[in-house]
Amino acid sequence: MKSVILIVVAALSSQTCLGVKYEPNWNSIDSRPLPAWYDGVKIGMFINWGVYSVPSYSNEWFWYSWKGPKPDPRVVKLMEQFYPPTFTYADFAAEFKAEFYDPIKWVDIIKSSGAKYVVLSTKHHEGFTMYPSKYSFNWNSVDVGPNKDLIKYIFAYLAGSDVHFGIYHSLFEWFNPLYLQDKANNYTTQRFVKEKGMAELYEIVDMYRPDVIWSDGDWEALSSYWNATNFLAWLYNDSPVKDTVVVNDRWGYDSRCKHGGFLSCDDRFNPGKLQKRKWENAMTLDRYSWGFRRDASIADFLSMEELLETVLNTISYGGNILINVGPTGYGTISPIYEERFRQLGSWLKVNGEGIYATQPWVHQNDTVTPKVWYAAPKADKKAAYAFFINWPDNNELVLGAVSGSSLSGVALVGSNKTLTWETSGTGIKVTIPPHNIVEMPCMWAWSVKLTFK
Ligand SMILES: *[C@@H]1O[C@H](CO)[C@@H](O)[C@H](O)[C@H]1NC(C)=O
Ligand SMILES: *[C@@H]1O[C@H](CO)[C@@H](O)[C@H](O)[C@H]1NC(C)=O
Ligand SMILES: *[C@@H]1O[C@H](CO)[C@@H](O)[C@H](O)[C@H]1NC(C)=O
Ligand SMILES: *[C@@H]1O[C@H](CO)[C@@H](O)[C@H](O)[C@H]1NC(C)=O
Repeated sequence: MKSVILIVVAALSSQTCLGVKYEPNWNSIDSRPLPAWYDGVKIGMFINWGVYSVPSYSNEWFWYSWKGPKPDPRVVKLMEQFYPPTFTYADFAAEFKAEFYDPIKWVDIIKSSGAKYVVLSTKHHEGFTMYPSKYSFNWNSVDVGPNKDLIKYIFAYLAGSDVHFGIYHSLFEWFNPLYLQDKANNYTTQRFVKEKGMAELYEIVDMYRPDVIWSDGDWEALSSYWNATNFLAWLYNDSPVKDTVVVNDRWGYDSRCKHGGFLSCDDRFNPGKLQKRKWENAMTLDRYSWGFRRDASIADFLSMEELLETVLNTISYGGNILINVGPTGYGTISPIYEERFRQLGSWLKVNGEGIYATQPWVHQNDTVTPKVWYAAPKADKKAAYAFFINWPDNNELVLGAVSGSSLSGVALVGSNKTLTWETSGTGIKVTIPPHNIVEMPCMWAWSVKLTFK
């Protein structure tokens, strides 16, 4: 009898108001519900910045493209033509001065973009930490280059705003001798994990208390090599951010697209249909690079139409979108990025009611008109938004997925204009104002609010 009571008490205490205790295995880690803020905010800004922002050519894999096993001839040629033969990649760190870095201006751009979370790189595969890591002696932004902690001011100026602060961190490092030794041992040793890779993550959580941990550089090894479930169990049970933090899925090649928090799968992941799990489309405004490129042309950047199309199809299929900017080595966000982000913000000021705190609707895209996407506010079961990329020539928007019999009204978002509509086939045909700047609430991608009986 006594032992029965004890068992009941034990079972209750592991699952009650004290909270669930997560175990260091994927079943347990995966059972943690994502903190709700993440699904509500939808739009994030990704900032990929590091020593590679100095050569700013090819992409953020510059060092590997130069000295890795399969050198990129363009990168090799650049180095041969313009640098002395004694020049090493580490010498770029001295040129990483971030002399025009103005975190107040960065935070202004972040806030005005409408992004509600930001993910800042603390370390890429080159191993250079953007903060004074005690595990990265002489290869961090305080000891060399900018002589500044490049994380803390962004974090400080965002404090108290509605923008969540997150970090990007690469587990592996291309050329770290400790890592290469573990790799040569077929990952049967874990010195790099203990002394560098994972040690930094504990340090970052302790120093900056991020709400997002965006892990990367996991793919050469199993999650057991990275000791990932041990870290995540600590993060979810005992860390200072245990109630708010969200993580992605890049914790080892057995984990990607399967385990962890939200699914980021591959870069620019965009499955084009509803997913069972929460997912994120991490994508770039520069089609070819996450890091800044000095030789980029305007055509390399997504137009506003292309960006908004990606935003809308991501959100209608239940994803979040994380939009990347690559700042310069001298510390600025270049005007083309700034313009895109401010334009996105102006668009969200008008159309954000159909974006933030929404969920996928019955239909994700329209059955008749191409490039029409839907989303529904979580708080209002009797409403949905239809977004359209192309303003129809005849000012008649056909929505094949909307049944006229259940509809009570249609309004153009941002103008308070009630629109007339009629049944058309299985759907409806909405009369919208003529295509001109006076009538249109914004310049690209519009939406109508559908209200149901
Ligand atoms: C390396 O480790 C993996 C995973 O444990 C194993 O499948 C593989 O056979 C090992 N390879 C060698 C060469 O020992
Ligand atoms: C893995 O995590 C556990 C729990 O924190 C710790 O005891 C162990 O030393 C870690 N192993 C490595 C190689 O870091
Ligand atoms: C809607 O999405 C589905 C799935 O991606 C696609 O096959 C279909 O062509 C889309 N419909 C229109 C009208 O674009
Ligand atoms: C729409 O109506 C609301 C409430 O009447 C008003 O505050 C808002 O300024 C109007 N918006 C536009 C674009 O006319």
